[in-house]
Amino acid sequence: MKKIGIITSGGDCSGMNAAIRSATRTALSHGVQVVGFRKGYVGLLKGEYLEMGTKDVAGILHRGGTFLQSARSEEFRTVLGREKAVRHLEELGVDGLVVIGGDGSLNGALALHRMGVPVVGIPASIDNDIAFTDMALGVDTALNNIIYAVDCIKDTASSHDRAFVIEVMGRNSGYLAGTAAIATGAEYAIVPEIECDITDLCNQLRQRYEEGRSNAIIILAEGAGRAQNIADTIKDAIGFETRVTVLGHYQRGGAPSVFDRLLGSRFGHAAVELLLSGDKGKMVGLCCNAIVPTLLETVVVSEKRPQDDLHGMSQILGI
Ligand code: F6P
Repeated sequence: MKKIGIITSGGDCSGMNAAIRSATRTALSHGVQVVGFRKGYVGLLKGEYLEMGTKDVAGILHRGGTFLQSARSEEFRTVLGREKAVRHLEELGVDGLVVIGGDGSLNGALALHRMGVPVVGIPASIDNDIAFTDMALGVDTALNNIIYAVDCIKDTASSHDRAFVIEVMGRNSGYLAGTAAIATGAEYAIVPEIECDITDLCNQLRQRYEEGRSNAIIILAEGAGRAQNIADTIKDAIGFETRVTVLGHYQRGGAPSVFDRLLGSRFGHAAVELLLSGDKGKMVGLCCNAIVPTLLETVVVSEKRPQDDLHGMSQILGI
């Protein structure tokens, strides 16, 4: 292998730069050239890329986002689009690709692999909804962001005797909401994985309220309901003054945590070593603190097993 390409695709997350840097420098250490495509599969389709030497990836490790930029590409979902991407890779002499992204991006990686392109995927998504990795890149930093915000909101909630419904990201996954609830001591987490009995929730909050605990934090996963509806229901049922905070894209940015810097570096290194050894069509994952490759075709059809204790524990500890 003489030249590899790197893309970051889908929703960005902190730690992507660490993975790009590590993959680039690992490849260069083997005498392999590196090109980075701009904006994920979009850059592959448009032929927008930059050649990356060791200095090009200096000074990015500690930055959030991705210096290659990221995007979601409709054109790449089509057969014609994918054929065009493969053609561009061939024309550029790129004979291996590292794809850093979430489930949609890994599906794209699998499609390229099936078309004969040697590909290795790196799981990167704050949602932590990718199977065969305990943690995806970016999750830890997003959680730290959430925890900082919730701690701030708790201060003002207690000053004003209010209940806050705080909406976090995660698409159909309740991982961020569940773990953030445990780590902040929130009263309740509402997640897509468990049906929320709003009457039961209100009863529990009322009981707390009558016991004199007159503020509350409810963390809502975006895939589990509408924050304003839940806040209104709580207000109507208990008379609690409620407020809503949607944390939004704040969660995705910021300097990566130590964990994400290390994870990105480990993933980037392992992905390139795998590609160069001829082992392709796989995703590198973190399993019991070891980097373990799994076939992309297995990853994309598997559902991530929710952490057994997570949601039950958040309910027990909260109220
Ligand atoms: O998949 C990552 C994620 O941040 C989700 O949690 C969220 O629903 C979505 O991306 C937001 O996407 P966009 O940045 O396109 O608004």
